[in-house]
Amino acid sequence: MTDVPAGPGTDEVELARLVRAHERWRGRAVFNLLPSENAVSPAARKYLGSDLAGRYTLPIDSDWHGERIDNSYTGTRYTDAIEKLGNAAAARLFHGRYATVRPLSGHIAALSALAPLLPAKSKVLAIEPKDGGYDGYAPGFIPALLGYTVRPLPADGAGHSVDAGAAVAAIRSERPQAVILGQSFFLFPYPLAEIVEAARSVEALVLYDASHVLGLIAGGEFQDPLRAGVDVLFGSTHKSFPGPQGGLLVTDREDLFRQIDPALVWRIFDNAHWNRIAGVTQTLLELERFGPDYARTTVANAQALGAALTEKGWPIVAADHGYTRSHQIHIDPSELHAKRGYGSGTLARRLERQGLLIDLVGRIGTAEAARLGLAPGDMPRLADLLERGSRGRPTVTREVRAWRRTFVGLQFV
Ligand SMILES: Cc1ncc(COP(=O)(O)O)c(C=O)c1O
Repeated sequence: MTDVPAGPGTDEVELARLVRAHERWRGRAVFNLLPSENAVSPAARKYLGSDLAGRYTLPIDSDWHGERIDNSYTGTRYTDAIEKLGNAAAARLFHGRYATVRPLSGHIAALSALAPLLPAKSKVLAIEPKDGGYDGYAPGFIPALLGYTVRPLPADGAGHSVDAGAAVAAIRSERPQAVILGQSFFLFPYPLAEIVEAARSVEALVLYDASHVLGLIAGGEFQDPLRAGVDVLFGSTHKSFPGPQGGLLVTDREDLFRQIDPALVWRIFDNAHWNRIAGVTQTLLELERFGPDYARTTVANAQALGAALTEKGWPIVAADHGYTRSHQIHIDPSELHAKRGYGSGTLARRLERQGLLIDLVGRIGTAEAARLGLAPGDMPRLADLLERGSRGRPTVTREVRAWRRTFVGLQFV
């Protein structure tokens, strides 16, 4: 038997098949419980596939950055207007006067804040990955790229929460130029009043990476960083924030925005992605209408799922603290190993085969489930499927598919 030769024509057919298969599987056959992902609304998806996808625009639209740079583009009358709508909606929703929806991702939003504000040799405090912090702030990554020293901001409370006293002591003794808040394992809000006061006392900036909790902040459900005195808020637009992949940045401080905004173009990136910006703007406007209901349901689902899984004997962290105040719950890795003899990676691969997607590092998220229409009352049934799925029970895949098919369309759009 000879293999069919791959080639331009056959590869295109194969590509179309793969995309269709992905859409069917992810869109109809699984419950997505990955805390880093979400479902994009129909209107935002339409904009992602629009003509905007291939366009360039002017470097930075600015009434107060001075002259526009000459070697830029015509044909931008609508992209300019779309960007203004997006920036204004982000500023309203996150309570800052200045916003940009240009950053291409959460990581790039972090670079967009750090590179212009902090010169090489700056010292920053960030939560270590071993305490649930983002790997990007570990010494070999963004700090190495930008020439910073990074020191730990302790997050060793329940579920890697930050204790006010320990944070204040670290800030006072390290005297950094900036404190970077935000975690990839993110369950509880920070004691912002104490952190901001301590940072002010050593003239440090407070930067809040809200990549995981941006949609909850938008819905008024987690904490309100800029109103609590944080200097710059930024993050991904596709985790609890239910938009297309991207990033945004908001601040109430004109002096900082004057440094950040002009530095984006040609330092952090050149052109922004206008189809994504239209999609993210749509999501911001949807959240202005439905954000509080969406965020409340997402957090209530996470708490109810934590309780239901605990009842099934799963080792969910921070049970004494109500499991979570975010869209995530966490499986305790060492307890899982002690109880079952395998880790979260094995668990996640088993569940994946049954149509239940959790991540390989033991986080379970409820944001997309809320978008589908699952409510706290559905969490015991979901926990039951997770428990039986983890034991490899044969009927679970069928049950997951049948239940998943009952959720058509998205809520909060
Ligand atoms: C806290 C935090 N910041 C930034 C990022 C990077 O986000 P993005 O994938 O949008 O670049 C992540 C990714 O998971 C994250 O957890």
